[in-house]
Amino acid sequence: MTKNFVIVERQGAVAVLRFNRPEKLNALSPEMLAAIAGNVETLDADDEVRVIILYGGERAFAAGADIGAMAQLSPVEVAQAGTREYWLRIWAVDTPLIAAVSGYAYGGGCELAMSCDLIVAAETARFAQPEIKLGIMPGAGGTQRLARAIGPYRAMEMVLTGEPVGARELHAAGLINRLVPVERILDEALELAQTIASRPAVAVSQARKAVRYGVERTVSEGLELERTNYELLYGTEDQAEGMEAFLEKRDPDFKHR
Ligand code: COA
Repeated sequence: MTKNFVIVERQGAVAVLRFNRPEKLNALSPEMLAAIAGNVETLDADDEVRVIILYGGERAFAAGADIGAMAQLSPVEVAQAGTREYWLRIWAVDTPLIAAVSGYAYGGGCELAMSCDLIVAAETARFAQPEIKLGIMPGAGGTQRLARAIGPYRAMEMVLTGEPVGARELHAAGLINRLVPVERILDEALELAQTIASRPAVAVSQARKAVRYGVERTVSEGLELERTNYELLYGTEDQAEGMEAFLEKRDPDFKHR
């Protein structure tokens, strides 16, 4: 019997993708990463799904790449393992992603959380880029996204020492959107997801693209895309409905088109 590395649950327009390798703290073997990429893509292609939550359970979001699967690999074999492609597929989805992090978010787990658009974390969650302790370095965003999120100095310390940092400190540093008691983690993520899912989907998609694009480029390049996307949204039904509803002092009835 093949193992289901992820379990997908639907709550209206929100999908929860729950990692299911608890005995290995959700370590991201190539098979596990393939399952995450495949399921995220399938959900992304479903118009009814407007937000995806990634959740690993209370003990671990994910404890990093699977060290057992990597220990003996040569550089060529690492490149051929397919994991670069799985990461690229996760990064390419259009649907907003929320990481609901409890317990360990280490290595690839921290990078997977940072691949999401928003991070909700339990007060007990711990984040680390511990690759340096294994003689390697982060390979899926740990040197880039972390530095942009919390600044180069704090990121440098995490990357060069490999030591974990608690959720409270990272919340203050700007990596975490909401810090919640562990028993509230999924409810908070769902609440946030439902709010975003209730917003007009085309505007959500265009706004998300503009933020993500701008983070990687100059302000003037970002402003160009922002303005283009802004203007395009005047062609949507939801823009007409949203503004009309405001003027008529009623709630909008968005059709997500
Ligand atoms: N790859 C493979 N297996 C892993 C793993 C990883 N990244 N992280 C945890 N596991 C496995 C452990 O080997 C153990 O398996 P076993 O019961 O068959 O021996 C199981 O998950 C539970 O982990 P354990 O170490 O016993 O739990 P802990 O609570 O004592 O410690 C961590 C948790 C996260 C601190 C510790 O597991 C750890 O340091 N993991 C590696 C983190 C890392 O370096 N990630 C980056 C990889 S590039």
